[in-house]
Amino acid sequence: MALAADIDLVDIGFWDRPPDERLADFARLRERGAPVHFAEPRVPFVRSGKGFYALVRHADVVAASRNAKVFSSEPAATSPEPPPWLSKVFGTPMVNMDDPAHARLRRIVFRAFTPKMLAKIEDDIRATAARIVDDVLAEGPGDFVGQVAARLPINVICSMMGIPEETRPYVLSRIDAMTEYSGVRGSLASPRTMRLLAGNLKAIVDLHRLVARLGEARRENPADDLVSALVNANPDGERLSVKELGSFFDLLLVAGNETTRNALAHGLKLFTDHPDQRDLLLSRYDERIGTAIEEIVRHASPIIQFRRTVTTGHELNGHPLRTGDKVVLFYPAANRDPEVFTDPDAFDITRSPNPHVGFGGPGPHLCLGANLARMELRILFQELFGRLPGLRACGEPEYLLSSFDNGITRLPFTWGHQPETG
Ligand code: HEM
Repeated sequence: MALAADIDLVDIGFWDRPPDERLADFARLRERGAPVHFAEPRVPFVRSGKGFYALVRHADVVAASRNAKVFSSEPAATSPEPPPWLSKVFGTPMVNMDDPAHARLRRIVFRAFTPKMLAKIEDDIRATAARIVDDVLAEGPGDFVGQVAARLPINVICSMMGIPEETRPYVLSRIDAMTEYSGVRGSLASPRTMRLLAGNLKAIVDLHRLVARLGEARRENPADDLVSALVNANPDGERLSVKELGSFFDLLLVAGNETTRNALAHGLKLFTDHPDQRDLLLSRYDERIGTAIEEIVRHASPIIQFRRTVTTGHELNGHPLRTGDKVVLFYPAANRDPEVFTDPDAFDITRSPNPHVGFGGPGPHLCLGANLARMELRILFQELFGRLPGLRACGEPEYLLSSFDNGITRLPFTWGHQPETG
């Protein structure tokens, strides 16, 4: 314990430190070997637990992800966990479920991510990416997150769900209300955060209502779209209830929005910091973009952690775990494990194989949207570098203070032109 005694993953101060310092501390935790236990503080309105073991070695994260019978996603894959009434009102997202309930939902919503469905939205993604670059050219350089990275994923999710163009500004305003709260950390009980929490819950209710109306309409008059496919029975007679559809939409917004946005922003920062890798990519884009995206996701690890709860006595990496123990899987730490990755801190777009766990470890909860995220990154960077060849970050990023999203909230960028004045 002595080696890691000064590291406190529960202290928000840890997450406020520069990313490189955090990675250095994760390296010390990895070297220690057995998982280290951290106590959790009491937080109003959320169940406080008895603490968790941090899994920081690649082998441990993979082992826990694979073995869902011992490492359960119930009652929640997040820590601290939301209060039970939240699930009662809004439904339980599949990420917080075990089989067979999880497998049933995954079978139904898998239809959203089949190659056929992805091919259907590819043109849509390309058109949105082109519009974003048109706007950037008109607006001039500024903030890459607000002008570029934040715009694509949310539009893609709306078009997947068949949310009409005219309703999107309303949806975006509701999502802003949701993310405003999730961006707040620290003193959860302050009047401001309580106000934001109320706004967040109202936004979820509003979005559920909107999607429920859409689901009911598609049940009566099915169309050739995803919502129709989800609310009407598949060949096995399975379909989503309207409440489950609302919960699925929430999950898409939470799982597919900030993650992809952050991967895009980290990607631009990495290509700026490593111009040799950028040149290598641009000299053969189609051939190299696949491995480049995997390396962005490994290096940046847009999601920092998910949690599991131990269901039975089990030994992990020589350490005994007991029923009810919580473990937290730290993906950025696993993705820099020198036991698996040669020169793990290097950004090498040709790295292959690249068995990173940025989309989660192998197992039943492996990211459902990984291929969609890959497609968004491939198309947007192609559009950006194709039309703005000098594209680069031109200042330091501002990072989100979070132990869950490895977020960039602002990233100054340019492409070598001065903004037009007057
Ligand atoms: C670079 C972008 C992304 C990253 C880094 C990422 C990361 C992850 C991770 C780490 C998990 C594993 C959760 C666990 O093991 O408990 C996960 C699950 C999931 N992701 Fe992603 N994700 C990304 C993009 C997306 C997109 C675009 C979507 C959909 C629009 C999506 C939908 C989901 C869903 C539905 C799950 C839950 C799967 C299940 O529980 O079976 N993700 N993601």
